Amino acid sequence: MFEKQLAEALAVNGLSAQDVEGALEVPKETKLGDICLPCFKFSRMLKKAPNAIAAELAPHAEALGFVDRAETVGGYLNVFFSREQVAKFVAPLSLSDTVGTSDEGNGKTICIDYSSVNIAKPFHIGHLSTTVIGGALYRIFKHLGYNAVGINHLGDWGTQFGKLIVATRKWSSIEEVEKNDEYFLNSLYVRYHKEAESHPEMDDEARAWFKRIEDGDEQAQAYFKVFKDVTMRAVSKVYDRLKITFDSYAGESFYNDKMAPCLDILTEKGLLKESDGAKVVDLDEYGMPPCLLVKADGATLYATRDIAAAYYRKKTYDFYKCLYVVAYQQNLHFKQLFQVLKLMDFAGAEDMEHIAFGMVSMEDGSMSTRNGRVIWLKEVLDRAVEKAAKIIEEKNPNISNKAQIAESVGVGAVIFSALWNNRIKDIVFSYDKVLNFDGETAPYVQYTYARCASALRKGGAFDVNAASLEAITDDESYEVVKSLLSFSDSVKLAAKLREPCMVTRHIVDLASKFNRFYIDHRIVVDDAGTRNARLMLTAAVKHTIGTGLALLGIDAPEEM
Ligand code: ARG
Repeated sequence: MFEKQLAEALAVNGLSAQDVEGALEVPKETKLGDICLPCFKFSRMLKKAPNAIAAELAPHAEALGFVDRAETVGGYLNVFFSREQVAKFVAPLSLSDTVGTSDEGNGKTICIDYSSVNIAKPFHIGHLSTTVIGGALYRIFKHLGYNAVGINHLGDWGTQFGKLIVATRKWSSIEEVEKNDEYFLNSLYVRYHKEAESHPEMDDEARAWFKRIEDGDEQAQAYFKVFKDVTMRAVSKVYDRLKITFDSYAGESFYNDKMAPCLDILTEKGLLKESDGAKVVDLDEYGMPPCLLVKADGATLYATRDIAAAYYRKKTYDFYKCLYVVAYQQNLHFKQLFQVLKLMDFAGAEDMEHIAFGMVSMEDGSMSTRNGRVIWLKEVLDRAVEKAAKIIEEKNPNISNKAQIAESVGVGAVIFSALWNNRIKDIVFSYDKVLNFDGETAPYVQYTYARCASALRKGGAFDVNAASLEAITDDESYEVVKSLLSFSDSVKLAAKLREPCMVTRHIVDLASKFNRFYIDHRIVVDDAGTRNARLMLTAAVKHTIGTGLALLGIDAPEEM
């Protein structure tokens, strides 16, 4: 804050406002000032020692109304703001429960492909990150005025459907599958794989059934629809709990009739090569294996559908950026896809981004899908909620709404665990760690939010105009003030880097600063000016943490 005004005031002695603004830094600690100007880089241009430059600039900084003092230390000009002037900016944050919005997106459209679960396969812990990182980015971009389009590129095409039809016909019926849940469906799938090992002819049958789906056969389509319905019923419940929404569910099958024109472009441009009867795009020149687009039997592939999807998205949304929130295991797929699109002169080719992330595994090492041990996401949520309920029972047995709070805390803890680190880091999930009320966790932040809410209930209405700002200029209060005022920068940075953890980290930092303040200062005091100021500060913290949690998709209970 104040960077512009400061830069203009320091545009003297041969420096331009741009020179200064570009060089300004925020010191790590408040005792080194609120903002500083390292003068080393001007030394050569001005033919003066950095310290001398800083000393000459100091009085120009101090002449500004919002500057308390400017110190020269070892080539740095350390500027300290008037804490009261800074505190003025807290008032608006205390009055609205949504903070840090911006119009930087200004109607630009960002397509975000996330979650993109596979139909008729378990919605497992491996889908946690794409779902919550994508959901958070979706909300963050919207918050900044972008027109975000959430797309669930459902994995609703592939031979697994043929296998499931065979299994259903052998051991169950379409009616029974429809009546049952995703676990039942999955058990058929698992049984199929076990039995197909000794009965390879089942795979031929499965292929034949899948062919019938592809050819639009009515009976086959009816099975397909039931598998999709059962899966979506289950998946939707999880999405509701995680507060995940989409604007489009156009999945792989949606592109069945949209690949031909893309293949025509590829052919026209001479990009398709025959290889053992299959059609590929040679990417040798780019150091990649060929991109397989049509198999020898004419079947299309994942990549073929992604090409069609890219064209469809460009035409439908005219996106400014198209993001794919998908695990790093698919790095090669996206590199190939983007390269092929470039070769096709696709209009959006430069605006495609793979937003990769690391793996989630369980603390006890149980993640393997190979031996059939799948960790369903729903079960992780249930277990976290169960554990949260126990903790709440111990901490606050008389609270009303216990079940709802346990849901918010348990689910929030799981979401938070995938949004705490930079995306690319692998995560080892531990229930105890994510539910620690004193750690870098959702419950810690939620608890701080509830603490603010409780103080505000106790304090009653406050008047920002009657707040004595001086009362929030001590060190602990001032740290809170500064954290509040830089929240919107963290949201912008989160969008720019496609890293929701910038928001997560910011609200944890704010929560810990508020708690330090809370230990040292009473909020509801007799002196009206002080009380108004502290309630104002508390309300601003509540709204900022609340906004941050909402951006991440985490509930903020008023009581905990
Ligand atoms: N269904 C895929 C999977 O679970 C992810 C799809 C990602 N999106 C895409 N357009 N390729 O691995």
